[in-house]
Amino acid sequence: MTQDELKQAVARAAIEHVPAGVIGVGTGSTANYFIDELAKIKGRIDGAVASSEATAQRLKSHGIQVLDLNSAGELAVYVDGADEITEHMHMIKGGGGALTREKIVAACSRKFVCIADGSKLVGMLGNFPLPVEVIPMAQSYVARELVKLGGQPMLRQGFTTDNGNIILDVHGLQIMNPVELETQINQITGVVTNGLFARRPADVLLLGTSEGVRTLQA
Ligand code: 5RP
Repeated sequence: MTQDELKQAVARAAIEHVPAGVIGVGTGSTANYFIDELAKIKGRIDGAVASSEATAQRLKSHGIQVLDLNSAGELAVYVDGADEITEHMHMIKGGGGALTREKIVAACSRKFVCIADGSKLVGMLGNFPLPVEVIPMAQSYVARELVKLGGQPMLRQGFTTDNGNIILDVHGLQIMNPVELETQINQITGVVTNGLFARRPADVLLLGTSEGVRTLQA
């Protein structure tokens, strides 16, 4: 099976985790496949909260109502992909640059269902460069602080987040303690948030493999 077929398989499997009401929807190619599956059962839900402008557009194009998070309250479930995930359900996210809104919607959700093809499961996080969303005027300061933490930050060229900020992609990290590093980076002045999702990990991982969709629980 191709990587896209594996992403489609986990997107289909995630529909079983969709309850009635309002759900949170992530960003990226796997989340896009999920939105396409969600469209087939849209009569069962009241709407969705989007983690990016791109996701909002795709939901609307399928006739799925997009709701504001502040009026939606707590969500039963959030479905999203990941760039890397461990068996402890810690993730690196933000390859698509939507990490801040993804983290907000995840924080408001009782259950986080991660959908990913098998290549995303890793023993240790850090091979994928860690995205950090930064207020533009703090770029150089934050970059210097990230170097002190052992990383090599690179500006994501020509990219602005939905919140009007920049992304520094941090290479060369071997992340032994994701909870600690997530906290440490978020304490740097000028950082909006970073792409480690360890303080609020996934609850369920639907992993696409050539033998079928594996379900891992926290
Ligand atoms: C976007 C994300 C995505 O979930 C992550 O990049 C995975 O993307 P894809 O499903 O395209 O492999 O965090 O900000």
